[in-house]
Amino acid sequence: MTPFSRRVGVLGAGQLGRMLAMAGYPLGHKFGFYGLSHDEPAAMLGHMHTENDDTRDLQNLVEFADVITYESENTSVELVKNISQTTPVYPGADSLYYSQHRLREKNLFSDLGIPCAPYALVENLAQLEQAVTKIGLPAVLKTTTEGYDGKGQFVIKSADQIHQAWLSIGQREAILEGFVTFKRELSIIAVRNANNEHVYYPLVENQHHEGILRLTLAPAQQINSAIQQQAEQYMQKLLDKMNHVGVLTLELFETEAGLVANEMAPRVHNSGHWTMEGAQTSQFENHIRAITGLPLGATAPRQPFAAMVNIIGQHGDIQAVLKMPNAFLHLYDKAERAGRKLGHINVVANSETELQTALHQLKAWMP
Ligand SMILES: Nc1ncnc2c1ncn2[C@@H]1O[C@H](COP(=O)(O)OP(=O)(O)OP(=O)(O)O)[C@@H](O)[C@H]1O
Ligand SMILES: [Mg+2]
Repeated sequence: MTPFSRRVGVLGAGQLGRMLAMAGYPLGHKFGFYGLSHDEPAAMLGHMHTENDDTRDLQNLVEFADVITYESENTSVELVKNISQTTPVYPGADSLYYSQHRLREKNLFSDLGIPCAPYALVENLAQLEQAVTKIGLPAVLKTTTEGYDGKGQFVIKSADQIHQAWLSIGQREAILEGFVTFKRELSIIAVRNANNEHVYYPLVENQHHEGILRLTLAPAQQINSAIQQQAEQYMQKLLDKMNHVGVLTLELFETEAGLVANEMAPRVHNSGHWTMEGAQTSQFENHIRAITGLPLGATAPRQPFAAMVNIIGQHGDIQAVLKMPNAFLHLYDKAERAGRKLGHINVVANSETELQTALHQLKAWMP
């Protein structure tokens, strides 16, 4: 046992839990997971407890752990509050409460003076019609909870689509958001530990296809220091307001009028996977450092250019990736299925040309 060795319990056993454990073992920590099945990506990386084994299994994980974290913002706030009575859970209940519900999240952005698209709560078809009148078209209808990878969303372009949109999202509580005309999509990752140390990664550019992240360019090019500072200020307000401990991600739109917040996630994020080889400390290690009371690591890029390409649906010719000197393969041990995140490829480069050459070699993985 190293002096600061901790037993970390993770609610969830997907790829994020897997990569958290892989970053935490070099620090001397131990891991346990609470997941759905013994086939999940993190299952072989620690003590695995599943919903199906035994009703005491969650309790067993809590008894194992010195500290608990989670993979998903859809984790129950009640559950986290209950566990917190005996074992610290980071990020805490406030971080979950705001980030798992789009209305609370948007209200928080507004209260903190963080610009976001105009929005309105929609609980029935009549309210949707009123919201369209208020916000105008195009607009995006999003369920207030449980959306991911663009699921639970409908872009309404004309008034004759209102009914279809309402049916499409399952006639459930939603928000209608004004459509933001953006130049690029960006995100920023921040980390805070319980000693109130804050660190920030550089803004990155994210390209989506059919609602799924496909490519991250890190750092985003042509970002002046004022924009980076602005993003960090927004993050600092969010971290402090929620008393957040761990990694926090904010997705942003870059517009003619400046940065507009889209949504946040109280966890390590797909747009931060580039940090594994691209930054001095990865987002996974920094999350583990933050929740286990260690000093935070440096966030600067290791080289001028990095990128992350997601492997979606099918693995493809992954042996070709292993032949590239500046590419790093990360597979999640998941079966192929349309639209599923199976792994990612990180690329590092010393010049724009070197980056473009590598991305060209990876074009089979990009839409
Ligand atoms: N108001 C908007 N205006 C323009 N485009 C939008 C808007 N809201 C969402 N989008 C587009 O849809 C994508 C997914 O939206 P959002 O991030 O809200 O959903 P999500 O399902 O939680 O996604 P994920 O979990 O993949 O981040 C955004 O990255 C953006 O490309
Ligand atoms: Mg998003």
